[in-house]
Amino acid sequence: MEGMLKPGSFKDKTIIITGGGTGLGRSMGKYLLELGANLVITSRKKEVLDKAAADLERETGGKVLAVACDVRKYEEIQNVINETENRFGKIDAVLNNAAGNFISPTERLSHRAFDIVVDIVLKGTYYTTLAAGKNWIAKKQPGIFLNIVTTYAWTGSGYVVPSACAKAGVLALTRSLAVEWAKYKIRSNAIAPGPFPTEGAWSRLLPGELVKKFDPAQRIPLGRVGEHQELANLAAYLLSDYSAYVNGEVITIDGGEWLKNGGEFSHLEMVPNEMWDMLEKMRGK
Ligand code: HXC
Ligand code: NAP
Repeated sequence: MEGMLKPGSFKDKTIIITGGGTGLGRSMGKYLLELGANLVITSRKKEVLDKAAADLERETGGKVLAVACDVRKYEEIQNVINETENRFGKIDAVLNNAAGNFISPTERLSHRAFDIVVDIVLKGTYYTTLAAGKNWIAKKQPGIFLNIVTTYAWTGSGYVVPSACAKAGVLALTRSLAVEWAKYKIRSNAIAPGPFPTEGAWSRLLPGELVKKFDPAQRIPLGRVGEHQELANLAAYLLSDYSAYVNGEVITIDGGEWLKNGGEFSHLEMVPNEMWDMLEKMRGK
């Protein structure tokens, strides 16, 4: 659970994290600060951001700028870019992490409920990407995008259909721009995390009794959920120059979860040794 990169790896680098005041965004931001980055955190709730910024500065000794921004509003993203440049001079990387999600049978969703998730996740990510990318291209600066998706971006998933549609779009955006904008020295990669406990995700995806009924660790070959530092290590690598030749990649960090649940015979782990002994005898061994 230790940090992986060399101290000072992000000295003089400035990174914007959308949804950076809570959960995984905050944890990734904290590690980047420990590595010397200047951090900009954005989300809708200014009071949450201000508290997170003050706590992070105290915990790490780094510099944090908190700017309220709804990623569905293009002018607010442009304002984040301006404020970041005013305070830190330039932007080196953008971590598209903000999201909205909840579980529901799809036929129970209103069209507004579908919109809200797709707008935060997909529109929010392409608005942020467009604003930051145009700024880098105009100023002839290199840049790095890191987008947080999920493993159901490519499998799809029932009961979180708006999120699955939107994350699939973010994955397509990542791969498309990795190719198109490489000529501008802009890299694009994604991380697909499996379950990492956060208040935001657990309260919406495992509400009430569900958290007792469906222990996510049970679905995972490694038998446990993720630790925030494990994700922070991967994010820091992909945001750093150590990954300069990684472009257009999505890296899964889920303890083997999605492969297990896609594997036709993975459920045979429930077969006890005695039964395997019996099956072996039946084969005549
Ligand atoms: C059905 C719902 C709903 C629910 C809201 N709606 N919650 N419908 N089931 N649980 C409907 C509302 O009725 C309304 O439609 C519309 O959605 C908008 O709802 P509001 O409450 O007005 O929206 P808002 O206050 O803007 O909140 C947005 C939100 C909320 C997405 C609904 O959950 C939020 O702020 N989320 C941000 C953080 C978050 O979601 N974090 C978790 C990310 S976890 P009507 O028709 O009534 O107007 C994640 C993990 C993935 O992505 C993978 C895990 C392994
Ligand atoms: P979280 O704490 O709820 O983070 C979501 C963040 O997005 C919040 O800070 C929220 O802040 C912000 N946000 C929501 N709507 C926004 C908007 N319109 N504009 C700007 N910011 C907005 O949940 P989390 O678990 O850390 O999730 C972080 C990321 O990881 C998400 O992309 C999620 O899909 C992904 N992920 C999480 C898991 C997991 O197990 N936790 C697994 C796979 C993927 P405000 O409410 O203040 O706006």
